[in-house]
Amino acid sequence: MEPRVILFCFVFLSSLLVDTLAWPFGIGEEDEWKGKWFPGREEEIDNNEVVTYQYTKKELHDDKHGIKMGTPSIHCDDGKVNLEQDWLDDPTNYTCFSDKRLYLPRDDVYPIFTADHIPAHYSAQHRCMNKQIFYDTDIPTFGSHRPLWAKYGEYKFLPKQRWIHNLEHGAVVMLYHPCANNVEVDFLRQLIVRCLYRHIITPYNVLTPERPFALVT
Ligand SMILES: *[C@@H]1O[C@H](CO)[C@@H](O)[C@H](O)[C@H]1NC(C)=O
Repeated sequence: MEPRVILFCFVFLSSLLVDTLAWPFGIGEEDEWKGKWFPGREEEIDNNEVVTYQYTKKELHDDKHGIKMGTPSIHCDDGKVNLEQDWLDDPTNYTCFSDKRLYLPRDDVYPIFTADHIPAHYSAQHRCMNKQIFYDTDIPTFGSHRPLWAKYGEYKFLPKQRWIHNLEHGAVVMLYHPCANNVEVDFLRQLIVRCLYRHIITPYNVLTPERPFALVT
């Protein structure tokens, strides 16, 4: 992971994101990137297990995502109404309630790298805020999501239904457990904020004490 992060560093060095901790969504935000973002670059050898999930026809075929993205609408998603559909504003999701020592770095634990193989014709559905969205895994990398993507930056908490849309636009999402070591959180935060314009940083209490961090892209 490190060489990849460092490479990004050089590419994005000039685009430092200043405006963080804001809630507004990426409405009509410039998104010039035309390149490929999904798993791995061409020259990379991918030894990851192939996901055998059976896609339904509906999931694979979706002209124009069903619902237009990036257009705020009180009838669907304006980034303000029905947010409790994804998150009940529960402090549990950003507060540390257990012993922080359990989350300290350990030299016998190594990172796990995984990749989901997304079919070339896969196109995610946009779901309005009147519908719940569930995922099969704790750290989903793709799937149905909200029509508005979140403004890049750091959040007190940002639900996955929102940041998955940012992934589609090439963002890196940094997830950290609320009990993760502050020095480590800050180290990774600095690296990401300084190197990547398209980033989301949010606590995520579903991560484990052994691996309290995840970078999703
Ligand atoms: C918030 O935390 C609870 C308790 O750990 C968890 O079950 C739930 O999935 C979390 N909610 C979100 C939106 O991550």
